[in-house]
Amino acid sequence: MSSLLVDNIGELVTNDPSAGGQRPLGVRRDAALLVEEGRVAWLGPARDAPAADRRIDAEGAAVLPGFVDSHAHLVFAGDRAAEFAARMAGQPYTGGGIRTTVGATRAASDDELRATVRRLRGEAMRQGTTTMEIKSGYGLTVADEARSLRIAAEVSEETTFLGAHVVPAEYADRPDDYVGLVCGPMLAAAAPHARWIDVFCERGAFDVDHARAILACGQAVGLGVRVHANQLGPGPGVQLGVELGAASVDHCTHLTDADVDALAGSTTTEWLSGPPTNTVATLLPGAEFSTRSPYPDARRLLDAGVTVALATDCNPGSSYTSSMPFCVALAVREMGMTPAEAVWAATAGGARALRRDDVGVLRPGARADLMILDAPSHLHLAYRPGVPLIREVLHNGVPQCRP
Ligand code: NIG
Ligand code: FE
Repeated sequence: MSSLLVDNIGELVTNDPSAGGQRPLGVRRDAALLVEEGRVAWLGPARDAPAADRRIDAEGAAVLPGFVDSHAHLVFAGDRAAEFAARMAGQPYTGGGIRTTVGATRAASDDELRATVRRLRGEAMRQGTTTMEIKSGYGLTVADEARSLRIAAEVSEETTFLGAHVVPAEYADRPDDYVGLVCGPMLAAAAPHARWIDVFCERGAFDVDHARAILACGQAVGLGVRVHANQLGPGPGVQLGVELGAASVDHCTHLTDADVDALAGSTTTEWLSGPPTNTVATLLPGAEFSTRSPYPDARRLLDAGVTVALATDCNPGSSYTSSMPFCVALAVREMGMTPAEAVWAATAGGARALRRDDVGVLRPGARADLMILDAPSHLHLAYRPGVPLIREVLHNGVPQCRP
């Protein structure tokens, strides 16, 4: 069994409150971390570090858990740069461009889709993302949703069936029939390749009754629930998600006090072993950036006691970024989060949004998913926006940048 020691760590962010240090990051100074069989085997003061077969010298830099990007749409074809340019010239974002991507995705070969997924997954990895949720939702036929999820599952265990992204053009005048397709043959073809089900619950997409019906069908076959909610305006999506015990409601840009209260009061029963089961609010500031919209108010959610995650929403329409460091910087500058809160939300918060307790944290037994920064502290992620600060990434203990 080969072991790897990451030594000479100036600042080790563990996200483990039992590690001591300041909450929420559980920071240790002058630390070392031992990896065996893809897991963290030991961590502690550098002076107590055990011998190992190999060693990486962090040279006094910061080491953090890998980012957990809990919301991304990587299976698509085509390009909507012109739509972005039109928005920057004053056009509003409506979600109408989703159908453009559906057309291009249906016309693409498996290998074209696979190449895009792998390119974006690699891009994210180099920026520190070691866990990445990937949704379908640009196929919207039984065959195209199933192949989207098959291809996503080649690179991630966190796959989400989003057949209810929009009603495709061929069903425009019979949405009930489309909901029947999603709940019937499409779900049957998708479920073997998916862990989660998601619905875009928004004016112009799916109303609350359709959304509830689709999510309930997914739950009945064992999928966990996530919801695209309250992105373009106030609506019922957040409260529907809480009602159904969703792991996460995502976007949360337009919230009423009742929405915030519902999230704050969502069930917090602990699993016997595992993370809490409350509903996380996942904020996606790349979408507000790229649609020139007001940012969600993270401060309001945090002050109410809601668990907040940050994710990229990487997709060709509303947020074509795979960069979690960019989202952290936006959250700090524009959404009232402290750098520590934003780093926690992008790591441990994302893990909560996926109901995972083996990632987003560095403690013995956790996955050895981590990043070494070219910087002395996690503060630099927001302090030095746009700078490639990720020097090395370990995924399951394997170096990704300089193997
Ligand atoms: O999360 N809002 C719905 N879906 C995506 C956008 C998809 C698109 O514009 O292609 C989102 O922002
Ligand atoms: Fe999305």
